[in-house]
Amino acid sequence: MKRYEQPDFQQAMRIRLDVNHMMQECVGEKGLCKADLQAPCYQKAAERAHAKRAQWAFCHLPEDAVLTQIETMAAQIRRQCEAFVVFGIGGSALGPMAVHQALQHLHYNELPAEKRGGPRFYVEDNVDPERMAALLDVIDPGKTCFNVITKSGSTSETMAQMMILTRLLKDRGLDVAEHVIATTDAEKGNLIQIAKRLGLRTLYVPSDLGGRFSELSPVGLLSAAVCGIDIREMVAGAAFMDTRLQSQDVWENMAYLEGAMQMECMRRGRNIAVMMPYADSLKLMADWYAQLWAESLGKRYNWQGDVVAVGQTPVKALGVTDQHSQVQLYVEGPDDKVVTFIGVDAYRAQVPIPLEYEQIPDVAFLGGHSLNELIAAELFATGYALAKAGKPNKTIFLPEVNAFTIGQLLYFFEMATAYAGEVLDINAFDQPGVEGGKQATYALLGKPGFEVKKQEMDAAPKGKDAYRLA
Ligand code: PA5
Repeated sequence: MKRYEQPDFQQAMRIRLDVNHMMQECVGEKGLCKADLQAPCYQKAAERAHAKRAQWAFCHLPEDAVLTQIETMAAQIRRQCEAFVVFGIGGSALGPMAVHQALQHLHYNELPAEKRGGPRFYVEDNVDPERMAALLDVIDPGKTCFNVITKSGSTSETMAQMMILTRLLKDRGLDVAEHVIATTDAEKGNLIQIAKRLGLRTLYVPSDLGGRFSELSPVGLLSAAVCGIDIREMVAGAAFMDTRLQSQDVWENMAYLEGAMQMECMRRGRNIAVMMPYADSLKLMADWYAQLWAESLGKRYNWQGDVVAVGQTPVKALGVTDQHSQVQLYVEGPDDKVVTFIGVDAYRAQVPIPLEYEQIPDVAFLGGHSLNELIAAELFATGYALAKAGKPNKTIFLPEVNAFTIGQLLYFFEMATAYAGEVLDINAFDQPGVEGGKQATYALLGKPGFEVKKQEMDAAPKGKDAYRLA
């Protein structure tokens, strides 16, 4: 039996949500009370979420056959390649980066090959020309596998990368089909057509699964498996979290409670959601969360078509680093934030602080403790100081950072986001605001079918002479 199938392991690895510092008992009158969260708007949203859950694509975790296909592909790549490169953007990149950083050595690429176990790993999620040039300085395309990920198969950034890659491989006399894996929709979009024409290996993104909800699909699981992460444990963690989220009572369901608390804070003018993990391994989890929260909940219209213009702005921070950068603002600045910390009970390293400088008491007191104690004390102290200043904050604790807890965490945030969408009565799964920019780019670069848009843009007042300063 795998460890993640054992009830003792599952119980020991339960992630926890500590909301003490959200409540009036700790924060005073600016805090919440239980009745606030049991208000009809939150309870009704829970009922709606419960009714819709079976249709939400992210709740359908990948089946065994898909996991086996990914593992087989990954094993071959691990044997054959020196580097593995993901080309993708947004939901096709942030999950792979966050999970890699969480579950792999913090200097993974610098480790010697035998310690790494898998190929070096790069995620290229921008079209900055310097970055493309820099990548080509550090990889040998002949010894590299490229995973081009685009759900829609039409994102300009990713398709431009695919074009550059194709030409590069051809120019070097390399077989595109041997070096490129396409992860995309099975039917829609341009990448699937190209993949079929070139005979590329393909992995399919379920047609109803949006990018930012797709980490636990082939989008995120191939790169994880290539780097040696146990993807079955990660998926088991998500499934375990699903079993923990069965209650329809907001107070009993930690994802609904998370969503309700964020929404209640927003209703009271706390329109900024700070996500601050106290672990370098979780730093990019805050980036992944920021996209999930912003793109899902930032909406102009509700389901009835009324203009609501809602959303809570996510801000990424890192404990303890940003205590010396942003926490001053969080403690003393405007009452417009709710802070969520992520803490870790047991880090994967223990670093004692030796007894030194005993003649300087202000330094010597640290000796005999450990970095582990120091970071835990600073996490608690920051939350406490915020609460004392009347600023609500909460902490999600991971017993350890491992594939099982990360699977739980991803699923927890996805459910909290979908639930918050119900509270706001908006569609959390589309992104019409992103489409506007995409279409304007198509028009500027001359994509067929966008001629009218181009004319509209050419006619728009530019203001460049009037307002552009030297
Ligand atoms: O969450 C989303 O749907 C978006 O952020 C997409 O992931 C992003 O726009 C990239 O889209 P695609 O995967 O279709 O290239």
